This record gives sequence, C-alpha cells and structure tokens, in this order.
Amino acid sequence: MKFTKQIFVTSPALPPIEEYVEHLKDIWQSRQLTNMGRFHQEFQTALISYLQTERIDLFTNGHMALELSLQALNLTGEVVTTPFTFASTTHAIVRNGLTPVFADIKPDDFTIDPKSIEEHITDRTSAIMPVHVYGNVCDVEAIEKIAKKYGLKVIYDAAHAFGVKYKNKGVAQFGDVSCFSFHATKIFHSVEGGAATFTDPDFGRRLSRLKNFGIKSPDCVDGVGANAKMNEFCAAMGLCNLRYVDEEIKKRKKITEVYREILSPIEGIALNPVQKDVTPNYAYFPVVIDERQFGASRNEVMEALAENGVVARKYFYPLTNTFDCFHGEFDAAETPVALHTAKRVLTLPLYGSLSLDDAKRIGEIVAGCGVG
Ligand SMILES: Cc1ncc(COP(=O)(O)O)c(C=O)c1O
Repeated sequence: MKFTKQIFVTSPALPPIEEYVEHLKDIWQSRQLTNMGRFHQEFQTALISYLQTERIDLFTNGHMALELSLQALNLTGEVVTTPFTFASTTHAIVRNGLTPVFADIKPDDFTIDPKSIEEHITDRTSAIMPVHVYGNVCDVEAIEKIAKKYGLKVIYDAAHAFGVKYKNKGVAQFGDVSCFSFHATKIFHSVEGGAATFTDPDFGRRLSRLKNFGIKSPDCVDGVGANAKMNEFCAAMGLCNLRYVDEEIKKRKKITEVYREILSPIEGIALNPVQKDVTPNYAYFPVVIDERQFGASRNEVMEALAENGVVARKYFYPLTNTFDCFHGEFDAAETPVALHTAKRVLTLPLYGSLSLDDAKRIGEIVAGCGVG
C-alpha cells in the first residue's frame, strides 16, 4: 500500500516549542541577536562536554567550519581527500586555492583507504582531509601514523559523526581539527550551524578571527576572513536539541534494527557495517545494491520507493571528482571503489519520528524489488 503522505529521507527533530520560546524571550530581552552572545557561549560550553573536546568554535554552518579551518592552518599545495562525500568537503579545499588529490575508499565502510592516502602523497601535500562518512569512523590510527610520518595536518570532515565515539573517545578528539555540521538534515541540528573542534589555542585564535572578517581588535584586521558567526537563534535551537539528541539516537537505533532484520538476509544488498570499537549515531541507512545478485538496480529500487511515496537519496552520487565544475580535471577511474559504490548506493529514510511500521514497510518495498 502506498504511503498517503510522502516520506523523505530525513525529517528534522524539533524540541518542545515552549523550551525554544523561553530562549526567544531571553533574546528579546537582551537584544543581542548575534556576535557571540549568551547562547553562543552556552552552546559552546555544552558541546565541549558532549563532544569530549578541549576546544570548540561555532559557525554558521559546517561548510564554513571546514573552509575556515583549512585557511587557519595556512596550508599550501595539495590535500589528499575522498571523492565519496558531499560537495562541501572538496569545495572547501578548492575555495582555499588548494588542489584536492583523490584517494580511494574502503569497500567495507566507505571511509578513505589509508593505503591509498599514502600512494597519493607528494612533496606538495600539506594535509589529509578524511570524512567520517555516514558516521563511520575513519581508520584514525593509520591516518595519524601517516600524518606523523609525512608531517601533514589532518582535518576531519565529521559532518555526519555527531556523538560518535571510537574506543570511548569522542571523534572530535582525532586529527588537528574536526568539523561538524548542524544542518537541519543532520542527526543533531541548530537549523543551520557547524563547529570545529581542536586543541591548539593559537589555531583557535586564528580561526575565531577568520569567522569574523579577520578582525583581531577594533584597530587591527590581520586575516582575510569571512562572516561565519553562529547567531543566537541557532545557538538557542542547538542548546534545546542537545537535550534530546540521545533520545533521537535511541529511536534511530530501533529503526535501523527493523531495516537490518528485513534486509540483512537478502543477497545482493550490502548494509552499512557495524564497526568494531565504535559507538555509532545511526545517522544514515545506506544500502549498496548489486543488481546481478539482487535482481534490481539501485535506480529501480529508488523508483519503486518513489512510486510508493518514499523519497530515498543517492548519497553519495555523483562522486565529487566527477562534478561538472571541475571540467574533467580529475579521473574517477582512479578511485574505482568509490566509483563502484556511488553507482550502487541508496540511502533509506531514517529519522527519530519515522514509525517502526513505516520502516518495516519501506524495508519490504526494497526487499520486494529483488528476485528472491
Ligand atoms: C560530508 C559533509 N561535509 C560537509 C557538509 C556541510 O555542512 P553544512 O550543510 O552544515 O554546511 C555536509 C552536509 O551538509 C556533509 O554531508
């Protein structure tokens, strides 16, 4: 039976409106709407504890956290990264005048392959930019070793990895900097927003100036910065949502279990892995469909879902190294695992307010496309 109301790949969690309204009253009273006010400060303090990081800075969005972090590191030349990601990762590199060099991903968890990273290092490489894609933790130990060996900076795109832990350590603790997205489509959001976590206080000072036009003091502007300050309305929304994020993660875990029960026995459908030593956040439910074994292609499954009122998404397709804006500068054949995955991956709806019955129905529609 077709869903009467369309089901999208995600739907944002919202706090009880009264809680947000209480914060709005405070904003009305103070008339401080932006420029690092009370809620910006409170949100930062709360996140330092939740993400288990030493230092943090907040941004208008995750992209500006990435872009300005690269700038604050004063990088030059090439940055080794993954093409199996959202546009933001690659654009942050290119918009800094740096050259992205694409390493391949691992077929099991879709994160950047350390072996491939090492193969792509040249004397122009200044940094590695891996992505904890779908909240899957990169091989942080191998990446740290490579970075030390070659003297490279590591900037983690942790947009998907809010609340994820590796060996009980928040992912915010890995690399020189980790950048999170608090976009409304993410597991945790502040409508729009983002954060960078790091330990080096000098880097932190440069970064915080860059998000405010490079202004050091009323008499001194020492960086070509942007305006990427998080406003008070977003910070207040983030503070409210933070109180409920653990509940959201628990609900998503249950939905994930429903999908897994239906889809894991099916030949030709590979599920996102359960990673060893990782506390996951259940941010996404990607499936990789092998048409020859399953009997239907990714696009056919997507169409069958759409006919039933379910909007699944091809995260991540196309690969960023095939984007039109790069005019054929890169060759996706050089990242064959990423290319193979991007052609077959489909991300199913997953959000806390999705009912278990609806998840079951979606899983059955997918399963029903196959030959078995
Ligand atoms: C992997 C990845 N990196 C960066 C971003 C950018 O985050 P934002 O939308 O908050 O700018 C996103 C999501 O939007 C993302 O999925």
